[in-house]
Amino acid sequence: MQNYDLKDMIYEGKAKKIFKSQNSDEVEIYYKDDATAFNNLKKSSLKNKGEINATITACIYKYLEKNGINTHFIKVLEPRLHLCKKVKIIPLEVIVRNIIAGSFAKRLNIKEGTKPKNVIFEICYKNDELGDPLINDSHALALGLATKEDLTQIYSMASKINNLLKEFFLKCDIDLIDFKLEFGKDKDSNLILADEISPDSCRLWDKETHKKLDKDRFREDLGGVVKAYEEVLLRIRKAGLLCL
Ligand code: TMP
Ligand code: ASP
Repeated sequence: MQNYDLKDMIYEGKAKKIFKSQNSDEVEIYYKDDATAFNNLKKSSLKNKGEINATITACIYKYLEKNGINTHFIKVLEPRLHLCKKVKIIPLEVIVRNIIAGSFAKRLNIKEGTKPKNVIFEICYKNDELGDPLINDSHALALGLATKEDLTQIYSMASKINNLLKEFFLKCDIDLIDFKLEFGKDKDSNLILADEISPDSCRLWDKETHKKLDKDRFREDLGGVVKAYEEVLLRIRKAGLLCL
């Protein structure tokens, strides 16, 4: 186990820390146990969450890579430490919704669990001070957050990732309700998938009972947060999808 206090930290986010790596084109990403919601208004530390999310993310990123999606993930260094390509993050949170829930349900007063006529894609400006506001493509272009080509590629990749993830989670008897993606540019300016995909960044409901197995358990004080995350990992394992 490395002494993380002695490592060179580049950035500390709400759920992760990013450290320098020996290779300047790479970084080491450490998954913390900290949980926040509502732009940091609600905070807690959930024992083992970091390790579970790191394991689920590694598994999903290996699966996506195998299926032709370029990601920042290189390898697992320690249970909660990943070696990743260094990227310049595009300051957008890309949200994909298969079923209505969360902020969409609230904003438009639609019952959670409703199936929309098509998959919904949203972008938010990644800016904590502003509370990550929902924007559109025209805003993103006007603010210089991404180019037209970036946006086209982002939506195309997000759609492919959605199809792959829906299939992945169905094998675990889980419905993928919605999720958030982040993209970045690597040293050669290739657009690649970055950040994490875990129960912190997805809504995952049991296929039969619709039990929530994601961060909504924390947001809505439902209890059993880490137990639900463990359940997701266990189901991934049982389905033979833990590509270690
Ligand atoms: P929302 O319904 O609150 O807009 O969230 C949509 C999806 O994005 C949901 O799966 C949770 C995820 N998400 C994040 O990963 N980070 C965030 O900061 C927010 C607001 C949502
Ligand atoms: N991750 C965001 C926050 O900390 C919001 C959320 O996931 O609900 O505040």
